[in-house]
Amino acid sequence: MNSAASPFFVDISSHLAWFRSYAAQKTAEETGDRSPMDLKVQHTMKVLENARCIVEGEKFDAPTTRLCLLAALYHDVGRFEQYLRYHTFRDRESCNHGQMGVRIMKAQGCLEHESPETRKLVMAAVGMHNRFALPAHTPPTVALVTNVVRDADKLDILRIMDEHLSGPDSYNPTVVLQQPDDPTVVSEAVVRAVFEHRVAAYAALRCVNDFRLLLGTWFFDLHFATCRRRFLQDGYVHNLLRHMPDTVQQAAARNYLLALLEEAEKDA
Ligand SMILES: [Fe+2]
Repeated sequence: MNSAASPFFVDISSHLAWFRSYAAQKTAEETGDRSPMDLKVQHTMKVLENARCIVEGEKFDAPTTRLCLLAALYHDVGRFEQYLRYHTFRDRESCNHGQMGVRIMKAQGCLEHESPETRKLVMAAVGMHNRFALPAHTPPTVALVTNVVRDADKLDILRIMDEHLSGPDSYNPTVVLQQPDDPTVVSEAVVRAVFEHRVAAYAALRCVNDFRLLLGTWFFDLHFATCRRRFLQDGYVHNLLRHMPDTVQQAAARNYLLALLEEAEKDA
């Protein structure tokens, strides 16, 4: 997979133009608040940028780079239809947006000029990018492309969460999946995940401080050294964890995680 070929030469401009036009068309169909859809376009561009950073850092060859960039560009293409139909981005209350993305791509034929192999790989990555974990039998190339998207996605979600939770202003409760900001509540399952170096599950969340810890546990599920370095350098997770009061029951797990990140920074 690795070669000296520069991803600089990988051109996906026709797909970028298609995506922008599709997003604009769907946004125009929305009669209410369109800003959540605009934010999804911004998020997509950031994830694409992060994916470029990963493939460049990992020195992927041009064909693999192209697959990763296409998968990153299309990963949330299902969000627009999801929002139009259900007015939420919560999959549990609406639809699986990864699977919705695959349906949209098939219906719209946006990959019709690509090879069958490219279509298959990109759609597989889009369909699986939002799973808690990839199935054990996932073919290596599908896993590689999907993991680039998952890592790139995580970096940008951390940026968004930090913007919302570390600022002085009150944040929108939908950002923290309606979790209460209650300093007396703790999820033992989330705390356990920290000490066991595992990613905590959304289903285990009980409050906003659990959410901060959960985001920190994403460090255990990054697949590329380039992404781990970015995760540490960006500092979003550090901000999110440091904004947690010292008095809460999650504080020991928070301190453990911060010390672990500090150690990792020395090796990065
Ligand atoms: Fe997504």
